[in-house]
Amino acid sequence: SPILNVMIGAAQKAARGLIRDFGEVENLQVSRKGPADFVSSADLKSEKTIRAELSKARPDFGFLMEEGGEIKATGTGPSHRWIIDPLDGTHNFLHGIPHFAVTVALEREGEIIAGVTYDPLRDEMYSAEKGYGAFVNDRRIRVAARRQLIDCVIATGIPRADKPNHTEYLKMLAGMMKNTGGLRRFGSAALDLAYVAAGRFDGFFEIDLQPWDMAAGIVLVREAGGFVSDITGAEAMMDTGGIIAGNTAVHGQTHKVLSTMLAKRPRRPDETMAPGLRP
Ligand code: IPD
Ligand code: CA
Ligand code: CA
Ligand code: CA
Repeated sequence: SPILNVMIGAAQKAARGLIRDFGEVENLQVSRKGPADFVSSADLKSEKTIRAELSKARPDFGFLMEEGGEIKATGTGPSHRWIIDPLDGTHNFLHGIPHFAVTVALEREGEIIAGVTYDPLRDEMYSAEKGYGAFVNDRRIRVAARRQLIDCVIATGIPRADKPNHTEYLKMLAGMMKNTGGLRRFGSAALDLAYVAAGRFDGFFEIDLQPWDMAAGIVLVREAGGFVSDITGAEAMMDTGGIIAGNTAVHGQTHKVLSTMLAKRPRRPDETMAPGLRP
């Protein structure tokens, strides 16, 4: 659709700059936003490019950007807002680790209706528009079909040093360690969700994310036939920063493991395992 093409074009243009910067990462200006939170001239340049492209195409849409913050929509009629992470996986990028993305979503009246996540090094453009399916480049994608968590590869993200919920996260991780076929921490939440949509990861969970880390991924996973919720099973991902994604079976089992682990009463290790796996 025209709107998806605008988003794809903006992501590709920003990504060209990122590829150049990735080639000479030692020359970038890097500063800290927090104790373990970095931003570089590559992030800022990418965001500037995307913003310019999108506002050229739709001058009255608002913005929510990781680096630039919020710009209110103008004009009448239904309100639209772009949600942008110009470089998801900054830490990978700055270490020369080839796993990062540009991600853009479009929200209409508070609902995410389209999203693109672009991995420039693999030239993989993930795109989805509500009601029209999810794609990587021109190929339709679907979430994986595995139905037992113990057979699954599940992605996650480990909260940064400055995040508040380390104890809760460790409980969740302990439960998932015992109940999955394998856990992965690749360092880009946007790509984690794109990989769930593409059936590479069977599922994904993380806490303390920001709206721009998840927005495009949410519509990608849904349009790929998957299910997305926050950690409690409700739909407040964008408000709570918590997310669980997968097919309905994997989502349900992950939700169950996480809820069990978060329940107050201390448990014996055996109780955290799926019944079939208990010694
Ligand atoms: C980060 C990545 C990472 C996630 C962090 C995010 P950034 O985004 O998505 O996978 O674990 O919580 O902050 O800062 O590289 O755009
Ligand atoms: Ca960041
Ligand atoms: Ca991010
Ligand atoms: Ca970012």
